[in-house]
Amino acid sequence: MTVIKAALLGFGTVGEGVYTAIQTHQTHLRCILGAEVEIAAILIRDSEKERKIDADILVTTNFEDILNIPDLHVIFEAIVGEEPGYTYLQQAIDRGLHVITANKVMFAKYGEYLIHRSRQKGVKIGFEATTAGGVPIIRTIQQLLQVNQITKIQGILNGTSNFILTEMRKRKLSFDEALELAQQKGYAEADPTNDINGKDAFCKLMILSQLIFGEQPNWSEVGIDGITSITQEQIEHTESLGQRYKHIAQISKIGNSIHATVKPIVVNSDHSLYSIEGVENAISIEASLVGKITLQGPGAGKLPTASAMIEDFVDIFQKEPIHERKLEYQVQGL
Ligand SMILES: NC(=O)c1ccc[n+]([C@@H]2O[C@H](COP(=O)([O-])OP(=O)(O)OC[C@H]3O[C@@H](n4cnc5c(N)ncnc54)[C@H](OP(=O)(O)O)[C@@H]3O)[C@@H](O)[C@H]2O)c1
Repeated sequence: MTVIKAALLGFGTVGEGVYTAIQTHQTHLRCILGAEVEIAAILIRDSEKERKIDADILVTTNFEDILNIPDLHVIFEAIVGEEPGYTYLQQAIDRGLHVITANKVMFAKYGEYLIHRSRQKGVKIGFEATTAGGVPIIRTIQQLLQVNQITKIQGILNGTSNFILTEMRKRKLSFDEALELAQQKGYAEADPTNDINGKDAFCKLMILSQLIFGEQPNWSEVGIDGITSITQEQIEHTESLGQRYKHIAQISKIGNSIHATVKPIVVNSDHSLYSIEGVENAISIEASLVGKITLQGPGAGKLPTASAMIEDFVDIFQKEPIHERKLEYQVQGL
């Protein structure tokens, strides 16, 4: 049977999730792809950490080892920050490998260029997992854009800040207490700065802007406000009026200019994001034909994020069966 060879960059929450998803869904993947999926190698940073990885898989701290694997087809990237992810993905694309990334910080900045480069090289790039975790927002937007014009997006794109606002309201916790609870439950990072100051939601909004409008606003012109200054008293007051604070990233295009903000907004009970609670993410899309659609689901986490990456993977290899790729290489090599 044909084998699709994959490598994982990173074996943290997301990388391990992709590993588990491939191992546990092997029969299903074989059925729909007509090929065996083999994880050939995993790139990590700390070779001393103990990990549950099959003994026949190459575990390395050297990216060159990954690039040198014969007949490698695809790379899943789940490491943190702009670098070295950006450099690795460029190198992978240049070697003719498909790439699938969850790295929003890197992709918000370099996504446009990586898409351009992957088109030049005739490979695919999947980035569903960069935005709203397991919610299939990228695929939905791509589908809608075939006939619709999208005019506006409003989203709760950071589960940690939504969880904090929810707990402050429901359990009357202070901001610090709610943040501590989010950390205890493993929702917030050890360093939660980008969750609570709006930067995480901003990166996702910029990825959506690129996808919808083919461009991003000037980053310096986007108002980014986090949730750190919201007090328990403010939350109580809005609740007494039947309203709620939601941390909303929104973008619209009027004429030629894109307007984007990331900030806490007080919404009424008839707002589509009013009832989104806890770590959930949700995105409302306003489009020319379909009207308004709201998607809701887990915005992060091991398996939801892995699910988004595996969806990309299946999409790539269903559209481009592996035997055709091989033929293409033979033709190119003549
Ligand atoms: N966690 C989520 O729910 C979620 C959801 C959507 C998107 N994402 C994105 O997915 C990516 C991964 O997130 P995560 O939560 O899985 O992070 P994580 O748990 O911190 O894991 C990061 C992994 O990357 C490896 N790594 C870091 N720097 C590296 C380097 N320079 N070279 C090689 N390996 C390196 C680490 O290696 P060691 O194990 O050796 O330290 C670790 O295995 C991030 O970009 C994040 O923004 C995460």
